[in-house]
Amino acid sequence: MLSLLLLQVLASCLWLGHSEVVTSFESSCPQFFFRKTPPNEALEPENPAWICQRYKNQYYFATLYDRSRRIPVYSAYLYQPAAGKRPNTWLVEPQLIGPTYPKTMEREWTLLNDFSISVEEIGKHQAVLQDYKNLTGLNRGHLNPSSHHPDSSSRTATFTLTNIVPQNEKLNGGSWNNYEQQTMIRNTQGCNNTYVVVGAVPGNNYIAKGRVNKPSYIWASACCEVNTSHRKTWAVIAENDRDEVELLTLGELEDTLTLLYGRSRVSLFDSGCPRI
Ligand SMILES: *[C@@H]1O[C@H](CO)[C@@H](O)[C@H](O)[C@H]1NC(C)=O
Ligand SMILES: *[C@@H]1O[C@H](CO)[C@@H](O)[C@H](O)[C@H]1NC(C)=O
Ligand SMILES: *[C@@H]1O[C@H](CO)[C@@H](O)[C@H](O)[C@H]1NC(C)=O
Repeated sequence: MLSLLLLQVLASCLWLGHSEVVTSFESSCPQFFFRKTPPNEALEPENPAWICQRYKNQYYFATLYDRSRRIPVYSAYLYQPAAGKRPNTWLVEPQLIGPTYPKTMEREWTLLNDFSISVEEIGKHQAVLQDYKNLTGLNRGHLNPSSHHPDSSSRTATFTLTNIVPQNEKLNGGSWNNYEQQTMIRNTQGCNNTYVVVGAVPGNNYIAKGRVNKPSYIWASACCEVNTSHRKTWAVIAENDRDEVELLTLGELEDTLTLLYGRSRVSLFDSGCPRI
């Protein structure tokens, strides 16, 4: 009986270690969270997928994905910006189709050519490029932005559609861009490591004939380690239909999200990150 149990535990460990749609971030990619602590279950949708985002054999960030709404709930990453070119390749997550498919993000045409998976089949499980064509006033908004990463591969990894939401075009190119560039550079002065969680609150509208949810709000939060005994935090939120970003404390953002998600109390970071 005991050996059977051990065997099951061992089997599940092997399974976890080898798939990129995983059963928890704590066991499979804890490195993207301060003190290995992901946001709590208050953000979890009915039909979640935990994705350790892997590109070319390396992990770059973590995304909690809402399979029903075909948008991310949040992406979590370490802030490591550097100057460089913006990639222009779009990728999808084969593991959302099934566990036998590749464990790294791929282009739609690679899945079609090498694995004979049609775009239609991919689209049953996630948003595809076609969903973001012909939008008016909205474009592809990164939760984890490519500019917060140091090299070509880490930047390309952010171009998976599982990290993308339909975002107000003016907001994306305006105040949100300003937050991603200016606010982050200013606030991370003196930070040794900065952990970021960026998310989207689902809205009542959809694009692509009801396939992909248009979030009502987009939010971001950060916990920075100044040194081993001192940490600071900040947060922002924006309504996804105007070009305006509000700055908040981490505690204020958690209060706001608790109301907006309407489930249990939201916690985005380990208690070692100050709420004020
Ligand atoms: C593209 O959008 C326009 C206006 O929003 C609409 O009239 C047209 O039918 C759309 N085309 C496709 C292929 O969805
Ligand atoms: C900065 O972080 C690294 C780990 O990323 C750690 O090894 C180092 O000790 C930290 N430095 C300070 C001053 O806390
Ligand atoms: C950590 O940083 C804080 C704020 O800058 C500073 O007051 C404190 O002396 C630092 N502690 C150590 C151990 O370096």
